Order: sequence, then C-alpha cells, then structure tokens
Amino acid sequence: MWASRDSLLVTESPLPPDGLRKNRASGRITVIQDELFSPGRSKAQRYASLVVGLSGFWALFRHEIITTVCGPLPGALGLFLRSKLYPYLLGRVGRNVVFGQNVLLRHPHKIRIGDDVVVDDHCCLDAKGEDNQGITIGSGVFIGRNTIISCKNGDIEIGDRANIGFNCEIFSGGRVRLGKNTLVAAFTYLVGGDHLHDRTDLPVLDQGRVALGIEVDDNVWLGAHVVVSDGARVGRDSIIGAGAVVRGEIPPFKIAAGVPAQVIRDRREDV
Ligand SMILES: CC(C)(COP(=O)(O)OP(=O)(O)OC[C@H]1O[C@@H](n2cnc3c(N)ncnc32)[C@H](O)[C@@H]1OP(=O)(O)O)[C@@H](O)C(=O)NCCC(=O)NCCS
Repeated sequence: MWASRDSLLVTESPLPPDGLRKNRASGRITVIQDELFSPGRSKAQRYASLVVGLSGFWALFRHEIITTVCGPLPGALGLFLRSKLYPYLLGRVGRNVVFGQNVLLRHPHKIRIGDDVVVDDHCCLDAKGEDNQGITIGSGVFIGRNTIISCKNGDIEIGDRANIGFNCEIFSGGRVRLGKNTLVAAFTYLVGGDHLHDRTDLPVLDQGRVALGIEVDDNVWLGAHVVVSDGARVGRDSIIGAGAVVRGEIPPFKIAAGVPAQVIRDRREDV
C-alpha cells in the first residue's frame, strides 16, 4: 500500500534534478505563486482556481458571498448562518456540524464532513490540488482552534471521533490518514511531504518535493509538539510522548518518546 520514495515523487521544482524528471507527470504539489502569478489568465480566474477550485462565475460568486457574509460573523448568528450556508460550498456536510468564526476554506467542494463535528475558530480546511480527492472528516471529530488541515494536491482522511487540539497542522502532498478515536495534542504537526535535498548546487527550495504519506492508526495518542515525518506509520493504540519526532514505524500498543522517537515500552505489559 505504501509507495517507495521514487514512485511517489511529486515535484514543484522549476529545475528538478535530471534523474527525477521522469516522475514529474505523476503529480504536482501546488505552488501558490505559480497559481497566483502565472500568465495567460485573468486575476479572477487565478483567484478562483486557487481558492474556489471550480470554474465559472457563479461558483466564485457563491463562494465570495457566503464566506464574506458568514465567515467573520461572531456569536450565535455566525454559527447559525455558517451551519446553514457552508453546506452549499462543501462536498458533503452531515448533521450538527459547527463551523467557528473565520474558518478558511479552500477548494471546499473536495471537503466531506460527517455528523456531529466541530471545526473551531480560525481553522483552515484547504483541499487544494489539481487532481486530488481532498479532505474527508468522519463523524464526532473535533478540530481545535487555529488548526490547519492542508492538502497540496494530496488527500487527508480523519477518522471518526478524532480529537485534534489547537494550533496543529496536518499537511498532505500525498496521502495522510489519522485513524478513529485518535487524540492529537496541541502544536502537533503531521508533515505528509518533504523537500528533496540531495544536491548542493541548488537551494532546497528548488529541488522538488516528495510525499510518501503518513498513517496514524486508530486510538493513537500523539502528545503535545509531536512531529510525525513523511513516510511514518504509527500502529494502533500507541502513544507518542510530548516533543517526539516520529520517523519510520512505531508498532501497535507501544509508548514511544524522544528525538527520534524510540519505543519505551509496550502498553500491554502494564496491565
Ligand atoms: C509518553 C508519556 C505518555 C509517558 O508516560 P509514562 O508512561 O508515565 O512514562 P514515565 O513517566 O514512566 O517515563 C518513562 C521514561 O520515559 C521518559 N519520557 C517520558 N515522556 C517523555 C517524553 N515526552 N520525551 C522524552 N522522554 C520521555 C521518562 O523520562 C522516563 O525515562 P527514564 O526511565 O530514563 O527515567 C508521557 O510522558 C507524555 O509525554 N505524555 C504526553 C503529555 C501531553 O502531551 N499531553 C497533552 C494533552 S492531550
């Protein structure tokens, strides 16, 4: 199921290393400057493709009206209007979904949300990409204030009852899955993509990007300030201690901590 580094390359480099050119067609991480400043399209078209993700005047008009009127509105009226009108923008919205104040939406038609979900104030749900599926959020999920769920031509799946604290980021240039009943503490970052850095004659910025994906299985607890690197897998019911950097694989039911995260013990030995 998991692709190798070579087969899953997605690159945004204007000057990709020669050996990587063959992989450029396999996908492309969105580069905001390219989208915004590319010639041959009007500013409205560029804005629409970056923000709305659908062509046509009415899609842009609907997005602008709904987000401008409802997005910054405080209090109960804001909550009420967003709950009624945001479903017109999103791909799917279940029952009892709460959108906080100033929730930012990008390519919202590629965002699907289950029932009984809270997206707290100032979150960003960004499903941007050319040919991606976008963001799927299960039922009973809580997404804390200021958290960024961000695709750059990738997909993100958040399982039922996942609880994500404030100021987290989940980024995907490929595929990132956060399982059911997961607990993600504040300031945690799932980095589902990376920069190539083999060459020394080019800045890292110009060397293209890779996305292997991340899998965090059901019932996992990620402590505060955890970083989960691209290509990592965390097995079910595991706990990752505060401040850890996860690389590679953490097997199920383990407690792991440190930089890089090392297994401290097996939780099943405690009972
Ligand atoms: C990982 C964690 C669950 C371990 O708890 P525990 O099972 O009670 O472990 P202990 O306190 O017995 O510690 C075991 C060893 O791991 C070390 N350790 C524990 N947590 C660590 C961490 N986050 N980073 C590095 N080392 C850690 C301890 O120093 C101890 O080392 P020692 O044996 O050399 O003395 C806990 O320390 C932790 O980080 N919890 C996350 C807290 C958090 O982020 N909460 C946010 C609210 S959702």
